[in-house]
Amino acid sequence: MFFFCKMRMKRIGTYLILIVAPCLIVILLWTSQHPPPPPSNDVQLLTQDQLSPNMPPAVSRRSLHLWPPCHRNRSMVNITGFSDLPVRLQNFLSYRHCKHFPLILDLPHKCGVTDGSDIFLLLVIKSQPENYERRQALRATWAEERKHNGAWIRRVFISGTSGANLQKQRMNQLMEVENRNYGDILQWDFEESFLNLTLKQVLFLEWLEDRCPRAHFLLNGDDDIFAHTDNMVEYLQGVNGSLDSDEHLFVGSLMEGTGPVREPNKYFVPVQVQESDTYPAYCSGGGYLLSRHTAKVLFEMSKSVALHPIDDAYMGMCLARAGLKPSSHVGVNPGGLRLPPKVDPYDPCFFKEVLMVHRFQPHQMFVLWDQVHDPRLKC
Ligand SMILES: *[C@@H]1O[C@H](CO)[C@@H](O)[C@H](O)[C@H]1NC(C)=O
Ligand SMILES: *[C@@H]1O[C@H](CO)[C@@H](O)[C@H](O)[C@H]1NC(C)=O
Ligand SMILES: *[C@@H]1O[C@H](CO)[C@@H](O)[C@H](O)[C@H]1NC(C)=O
Ligand SMILES: *[C@@H]1O[C@H](CO)[C@@H](O)[C@H](O)[C@H]1NC(C)=O
Repeated sequence: MFFFCKMRMKRIGTYLILIVAPCLIVILLWTSQHPPPPPSNDVQLLTQDQLSPNMPPAVSRRSLHLWPPCHRNRSMVNITGFSDLPVRLQNFLSYRHCKHFPLILDLPHKCGVTDGSDIFLLLVIKSQPENYERRQALRATWAEERKHNGAWIRRVFISGTSGANLQKQRMNQLMEVENRNYGDILQWDFEESFLNLTLKQVLFLEWLEDRCPRAHFLLNGDDDIFAHTDNMVEYLQGVNGSLDSDEHLFVGSLMEGTGPVREPNKYFVPVQVQESDTYPAYCSGGGYLLSRHTAKVLFEMSKSVALHPIDDAYMGMCLARAGLKPSSHVGVNPGGLRLPPKVDPYDPCFFKEVLMVHRFQPHQMFVLWDQVHDPRLKC
């Protein structure tokens, strides 16, 4: 029943509630009475007693699901001003050294025996367990797994856990059911929070290196962006032949000359976390495109760059450590488009040319995706 309340609070379109909520409840009731079937070939649910021996050779490389628990750094309380920091930042600092968490939902076959080399664009979408409606909208719109212009587009949602105890269990159950039905969720056993987004990013890079290193390009983004994935494929395919996925590529909405926010809001980064007042250039985390080469470099760098709570700035730090630079693309507007006054903000013509734009409700996503594909659309 708590799903119901959650959705009501979020005021999603009533018809969505009417359609989605009963289905969910039925699914949950059903699964609580029926044990899950054995994992299919495409989706593997990992539990401690269900490990490796009969995993196919292509995926048996490393165990991503068995990490010893990582403990709070107790000496952190002694750093100057620690007790005056908001609890979430105290937690960040105390767990900053933890870069491994067990994988609870894996997709060992996502990239098949080719390690992903047949995947042209892998969509990597940050999504919290409770964002079920957003995932559904994306599965049916821009993140649909398909071939465009001869190039395969595949999708994974990356997630931690939400809530505690019973709520956490139920949310994990939701993710499990979704994974069984769609085969598109990677979930690690760490607590979802804004300040843990960097951790999620790093855990994904580790998974990628192990399970899918040959996928050519990645879109890394939030679950509330509108990404014109057809345009992205065409952009990556280039005018005169495809860009080289074994070369550096990191494009998005470029942020330069910024630094840590020192006011105590959501983005607050105290000097205890970073003393320097500047960040290297980075791309806004709403969405950016990168090549497999750059993803690999970022993972290598992340081993020695201390985690930073702002995930997109952290990517910039890892790039800088490797001597690489992010770049901008005019079609990426994670802050939302700046439209001239008196223009309908949902006019599909504004989206024909873009690669991605931030902040959409699931129902808007459906309409927009349909409209940009309307052959009669005249701009
Ligand atoms: C913090 O500092 C105090 C005084 O120096 C010391 O007694 C205590 O053991 C320290 N605590 C930790 C967890 O390091
Ligand atoms: C724990 O925190 C102390 C104080 O900030 C630091 O010197 C030490 O390196 C940290 N330990 C780990 C494992 O990160
Ligand atoms: C990040 O996740 C870990 C593991 O669940 C948790 O202990 C820690 O408090 C979280 N950090 C923040 C800042 O929420
Ligand atoms: C593509 O190739 C043509 C002909 O060689 C050249 O004139 C053009 O500048 C190239 N375009 C790009 C974007 O490289």
